[in-house]
Amino acid sequence: MVKETKIYLMSDLDDKDKSSEIAKLIQSGKLVVFPTETVYGLGGNALDPNASKAIYSAKGRPSDNPLIVHIADKNDVFQYVKSVPLEAKRLMDAFWPGPITFILEKNDLIPYTTTGGLKTVALRMPNHEAALKLIKQSNRPIAAPSANISGKPSSTAFKHVFDDFNGRVDAIIDGGDTTIGLESTVIDMTSAPTILRPGAITKSMIERVLNQKVLDLSNQLPTGEVRSPGMKYTHYKPKGNVTLINGLESHVKNYIRDFEITHHNKKVAIICPSEYEDLFHGFRLRLLGSIHDSALMSKNIFKALRDMDDWQMDEIFIYYKESDELGYAMMNRLLKAAGYHVLEL
Ligand code: TXA
Ligand code: MG
Repeated sequence: MVKETKIYLMSDLDDKDKSSEIAKLIQSGKLVVFPTETVYGLGGNALDPNASKAIYSAKGRPSDNPLIVHIADKNDVFQYVKSVPLEAKRLMDAFWPGPITFILEKNDLIPYTTTGGLKTVALRMPNHEAALKLIKQSNRPIAAPSANISGKPSSTAFKHVFDDFNGRVDAIIDGGDTTIGLESTVIDMTSAPTILRPGAITKSMIERVLNQKVLDLSNQLPTGEVRSPGMKYTHYKPKGNVTLINGLESHVKNYIRDFEITHHNKKVAIICPSEYEDLFHGFRLRLLGSIHDSALMSKNIFKALRDMDDWQMDEIFIYYKESDELGYAMMNRLLKAAGYHVLEL
């Protein structure tokens, strides 16, 4: 069903009439796409099972993949869970508002549709003025997965959400480009702290606060039992084939040149740090930013993957090696985008 999608600016949240119009959308079970510091979210009232159903359907997401519930005040967490372990509280105090999501045991206020049938709920307080205003003004916790059609790269720019959701949601708040560009770290706190998805709040940052080692299951391959349903679905995929390529610079260059010769009907692109611009001179390139600036590369990665569809690329090679913890989080997304297809030369 095609809907009329209203486009708002962040400043509209400071306008009395427009902000109450937006708040009413959330309160009446409608969908509002909004910016956060990580990626855009596809939001609806987390307490309304019909709103959650509408989110799954607009996103095309399987309904067993749970949504993150966004709150605007740290203390609101107590309203929606059975208990908050001391370690979780310490991490919330250290990192909220910010790019980290905690899995805790839900209470009866959170419907099972929001948690994909799980007894646990994912909670996050985003560090973004517009997101916080939206939650406060609607006076509801907001369930929001990343605002992308299921399987596609997450959205880090207004264009991405407009391309995916114009005509499918009730409103989009244009927040420009998001600053972090990778989704939040997800950590399960229902037993020994376990990272399920790496992000800008890194394992060592968490360990420093807790003064203990934490587990990391985020690179578990999508087979067998999975702790986080998000781990088992295709993610971040452009339409073309994606290959992560590893090896000496000259070998990589020769391989891709030979590939272009033997597949002359295919449109080939390389995604890589800016330092390789000269190495790959003459190839179709999508540069990510300096190899020494993981924050910049992370901010750019989903945009780069989406550009591959705009450029109608058939074959995409990614030449990248992680060098720090943020790079590790980015590699987690790249591995998924490539369907774990890594070519070692
Ligand atoms: O930065 C972010 O986290 C963004 C912004 C919008 O806040 N949201 C986001 O949502 O990335 P989504 O739905 O794309 O990713 C949520 C991840 C999924 O992998 C999901 O399986 C996992 O968190 N998750 C959610 N609830 C869970 C639960 N109860 N138990 C285990 N994993 C859960
Ligand atoms: Mg997502």
